[in-house]
Amino acid sequence: MLNRRDLLRAAAAAGALGTVWPLSAGLSPAQAHAAALDLGASWDAAPFTLGVGSGDPLPDSVVLWTRLAPEPLAFEQPLPEIVEVEWTVALDRTMRSRVASGTIAASNLLGHSVHVPVHGLRAGRTYYYQFSALGKRSRVGRTRTAPVGPVSKVRFATANCQAFHDGFYAAHRGIAQENLDFVVHLGDYIYEHGQVGGAHVRDHEGPAALSLADYRRRHALYKGDPSLRDAHAAHPFYLTWDDHEVVNDYSGTEGAAPFVKRRAAAYQAWYEHLPIRSGSALEPRIHRRREWGSLLDLTVLDLRQHRSAQNLANGTILGAEQKKWLLDGISGAREAWQVWINSIMLSQLARPGGGYYFTDQWDGYLSERREVLGHVATTGLEDLVVLTGDWHSAFVDDIRPDFDDLSSPVIGTEFTAHSITSSAYSPEWNAANGPVMGAANPHLKYFEGNRYGYDVYEVTPRRFTTHMRVIGDRRDAASPVTTLTTFHVDRGKAGSFEDPATAGSPAQYRRP
Ligand SMILES: [Fe+2]
Repeated sequence: MLNRRDLLRAAAAAGALGTVWPLSAGLSPAQAHAAALDLGASWDAAPFTLGVGSGDPLPDSVVLWTRLAPEPLAFEQPLPEIVEVEWTVALDRTMRSRVASGTIAASNLLGHSVHVPVHGLRAGRTYYYQFSALGKRSRVGRTRTAPVGPVSKVRFATANCQAFHDGFYAAHRGIAQENLDFVVHLGDYIYEHGQVGGAHVRDHEGPAALSLADYRRRHALYKGDPSLRDAHAAHPFYLTWDDHEVVNDYSGTEGAAPFVKRRAAAYQAWYEHLPIRSGSALEPRIHRRREWGSLLDLTVLDLRQHRSAQNLANGTILGAEQKKWLLDGISGAREAWQVWINSIMLSQLARPGGGYYFTDQWDGYLSERREVLGHVATTGLEDLVVLTGDWHSAFVDDIRPDFDDLSSPVIGTEFTAHSITSSAYSPEWNAANGPVMGAANPHLKYFEGNRYGYDVYEVTPRRFTTHMRVIGDRRDAASPVTTLTTFHVDRGKAGSFEDPATAGSPAQYRRP
């Protein structure tokens, strides 16, 4: 079977990577396209090659997205400067019962991307949408508005860390086939770097993305996995980002002019390729609060754009404005599940003998974490569930205001999800270090790092349930999805419980 990860490794070993990696320097768009096809990429019919998507549901509104890209791996498209695009929203998949429509200009200034904020929709409804331009129609997408008032159940998924070079998006295929109200993307939507042998196997360096042209090509390549396009067409997405949308471990508030220019290019390409509701493509406002009826509040955090450097006495991961907004939101929170969309691990992950595994996560911003979690404790915020990506491994943690003080109360639960494809540590590392991490972190309840997938959450007024979905093999685009294990949190009771039926499933650490 076709296997882009091993193909790339074989090509790298033979020193012939330039003939295979589609983003190699010096390829024409046609050569890049052919190289991508060799790695299993395909695109929708032109000009809607990158598919369609919708995002940021509100009770009366969703954002519809597409981008015209007849030559997906070219920077400048063979299109007029401005192309009129028609959009239609209907109640049925055949698009006969139309409820809204209009036209919008796709401009080459924003890569001929289209973002339509549709208003006047009804709450808690499923809709279908379609674009047409240049005499062609896009595929039909499905979306959903947020409900208002009492809601008996919501089902949603998170996805994170989808290095194209590390495997096929069988996990997105699974997401596309799930019955969901929405999807949350926790970041590392693309990887900017040139290495194509896996995050921990630096066996080759290709060119990294630096310019708008580079980032556009990279997003277009990622959209060349049909399962990702299927996931976007099937469900609306709420998105945040992490570092690799720009560059590894960056801080948005630091850097000289070349970095500022690179960051602006990356932000623009991110906006151009995703269903973002934003007045500004260059400094998207990502942190926001969204309500799913009276059942659940989503607090979406941006832990990149406004942060300072790590390990400063008065460092900030949120930035002053977002921190005040988060603290005010905690003070004023209503009775509902409080779900934080948190790209990188909030819970402490201490090394045995002192120090932390990574200070690019909240462990590098200790005073701010103490302030935020102290505020959760003193205001009595209940029913806090934090959803996290970045680690390429699954964790379940009890959240405490002071992780070193076991007499401090448990104030919430953090679920860190497996990656879609991005390489985890080796099975040997996981087997050796799972018990070590567990022993050094009494709040850590579960660790599993040998699998790839996504989480599905079923939430009722009484219970928040997390199903860890995993794929069998990321080298197989059709790899089946199974449920590795299930945890739940009960309303009004801090702390998580693993389903006894799956508590015997393989893991490298489980607190007895
Ligand atoms: Fe990642």
